[in-house]
Amino acid sequence: MKFAEKRMILGISGGIAAYKTAELVSGLVQRGLAIDVIMTQAAQALVGSKTFQALTGRGVYTSLWEEDSSPLAHIQVTAQTDLFAVIPATANIIAKYAAGIADDLLTTALLAYDGAVLIAPAMNLRMYKHPATQANLNVLRGRGVEIVGPSEGRLACGDEGEGRLAPLAQIEFHILRLLERQKELADRLVLVTAGGTREKIDAVRFIGNPASGRMGYALARAYALRGAKVVLVSANSSLPDPYGVEVVRVHSADDMASAVFERAQEAQVVIMAAAVGDYTPKETSSEKIKKGAGGLTLELSPTVDILAELGKRKRAGQVLVGFAAESDQLEENARKKLVAKNLDLVCANPINEEGVGFASEDNLLTLIDSSGVTTRLPLMSKDEVAEQVIERIIEIISRGENISPDNLLSHERKDAEDG
Ligand code: CTP
Repeated sequence: MKFAEKRMILGISGGIAAYKTAELVSGLVQRGLAIDVIMTQAAQALVGSKTFQALTGRGVYTSLWEEDSSPLAHIQVTAQTDLFAVIPATANIIAKYAAGIADDLLTTALLAYDGAVLIAPAMNLRMYKHPATQANLNVLRGRGVEIVGPSEGRLACGDEGEGRLAPLAQIEFHILRLLERQKELADRLVLVTAGGTREKIDAVRFIGNPASGRMGYALARAYALRGAKVVLVSANSSLPDPYGVEVVRVHSADDMASAVFERAQEAQVVIMAAAVGDYTPKETSSEKIKKGAGGLTLELSPTVDILAELGKRKRAGQVLVGFAAESDQLEENARKKLVAKNLDLVCANPINEEGVGFASEDNLLTLIDSSGVTTRLPLMSKDEVAEQVIERIIEIISRGENISPDNLLSHERKDAEDG
């Protein structure tokens, strides 16, 4: 059985949907997965722990203070675990986990665990829509927690709307995907840039752009979930650090160039998703420039084109990915950038379409690789786009004879020998 070596902790919190979790557990156990269940008190009021004991053939943890368990059960239970899932996850458990509150076995174990986490929210529609719940979910998403659902439909309270536990097949798919993928890219170093650089004019003004960093953060998170070592060079993004990612914060194009050049050499994949300013003021003032009677003329000089420089320095085995933000002739212009900057893949995005690209939740990308293969992706969330981009990079790596991991190692060895 494919998952016989895998172990999952399943937290069950007190939503009416808790009874559905039993069916999910039964299917997962049949695939060979070892599941240790932790139930909150509220969950036990809704379903009996014996059900899960019978289904998993293992003990069910219900309290921090069980007589026969050690005082450190919450730490021990999380050891050697491949995935921690909370199904259903109530608004309460989501809020506690986002805030780092640990006041029972489930929340304590969650906090003591530093691996992959999946949650499937289920609650009343108004509770789900409440800004507090939405903000908490965003915090968790930002930390790399995989959130599945909720879906729409009739809720236990009689209301209709979003808040139903996602279909079990969908939750199972995501669990298996996470278990399958989390070690896939172990030992690979991926460098991603995100956000928008700012060029200082004076003490309070800058030239900037509206990039939020979402696309680069989604890529960094998706790579980390697959086990890669990820360095994220982030310019002026207000997003929280994704879980398991080394974040280097920068401001200007020049700062970004230094941070990227420092780490790029060792990276197998470099993705420049940041919107880098092309010009910077020739002179900056450390004080605030006073308003004069006339106009103000700024003299600008070009910044370093980081990606073009990486293209020149590209070593054998390295995959270089750029973005091309275009207002017209999308594919033609993107292809020109691919060639000019010596890229392996360019992700072209139109910037004149509503709800797409800069600072938005979704993205509409066309992926063009150096062999000319062009994939026009439909409009999708940046998390979904990130998965597609990673799949393409994996394809490029497996296609290129010179860039198999073994060859990569021998290249590295050769580089070392060359001094
Ligand atoms: N880029 C970079 N350094 C710069 C400018 C851009 O590394 N100084 C990278 C971006 O991160 C992106 C790619 O180059 O991956 C293309 O950026 P884009 O702004 O679309 O194009 P430019 O090369 O700046 O050309 P233009 O502004 O003329 O479209």
